[in-house]
Amino acid sequence: MKNIILTGASSGIGMAFARRAANSGRILLLGRNEKALKELLKELPGDHAMMRCDVTSLSDCEKAVNHAMKEFGSVDVLVNNAGLGYFDPLAEGKLAEWHHMVDVNVKGILSMLHLCLPSLIEKKGHVINIGSVASHHVFPNSGVYCATKHAVLAISESIRVELMGKVRVTTISPGAVNTDFINKTTNETIHADMKDYFATSMAPDTIAQQIMHALNAPADSVINEILIRPFR
Ligand SMILES: NC(=O)c1ccc[n+]([C@@H]2O[C@H](COP(=O)([O-])OP(=O)(O)OC[C@H]3O[C@@H](n4cnc5c(N)ncnc54)[C@H](OP(=O)(O)O)[C@@H]3O)[C@@H](O)[C@H]2O)c1
Repeated sequence: MKNIILTGASSGIGMAFARRAANSGRILLLGRNEKALKELLKELPGDHAMMRCDVTSLSDCEKAVNHAMKEFGSVDVLVNNAGLGYFDPLAEGKLAEWHHMVDVNVKGILSMLHLCLPSLIEKKGHVINIGSVASHHVFPNSGVYCATKHAVLAISESIRVELMGKVRVTTISPGAVNTDFINKTTNETIHADMKDYFATSMAPDTIAQQIMHALNAPADSVINEILIRPFR
């Protein structure tokens, strides 16, 4: 039984992964939407827990990791999934949105990683970071989001090169997935242009299956990245 911390469990890819992983581990479900977390906890088979955690708050992250250590005894798997993208042309970008993407997508991952590393090293654990195709390419109208997802890949690579043989790391890098993700974009024209594309892209469970695949890799191996795009 693995002890798993999952950020962004209240929606989309995180929620789909919680459903896939419920029978193979104990999961601490994290997010800000407590109603969604409570409903998910009720629905899942097995012994899990939930907690409100805004990953931009270091004290929330500390409380969450302390809770996992107290209730589960260790953190074997950290799934850094919480994230968001605001799409805008660079010249029309809103600085508060840029800062918020960095706070959630980069600093949030770093806070959780820093707090979980001692247990992950002790347990030879596994970090799953949710990157994106935007970890590899820079697209128009999403430059800052792409910058944060390039950073996610760099963080994963630093785990790989420095903690080889001690902690496994996998970056899951999806193209468009049909979740609430695109609805965060406040630029109405871009939202209107892109929402149908996302709605007809991959199901969140497709990505959840890839996370399971990485977690179940043969013990003499580690899958460092899965890049997955819609087939259309
Ligand atoms: N959908 C796509 O096309 C796509 C493609 C590539 C990569 N991704 C990545 O996949 C990950 C999951 O996104 P999704 O597509 O599943 O979108 P989603 O349905 O909007 O889910 C985003 C999750 O992140 C959590 N979150 C956002 N801000 C947070 C904060 N400040 N503190 C804690 N949790 C926060 C949300 O929980 P609360 O609102 O409850 O806090 C929610 O559970 C993200 O990292 C995203 O960048 C998505």
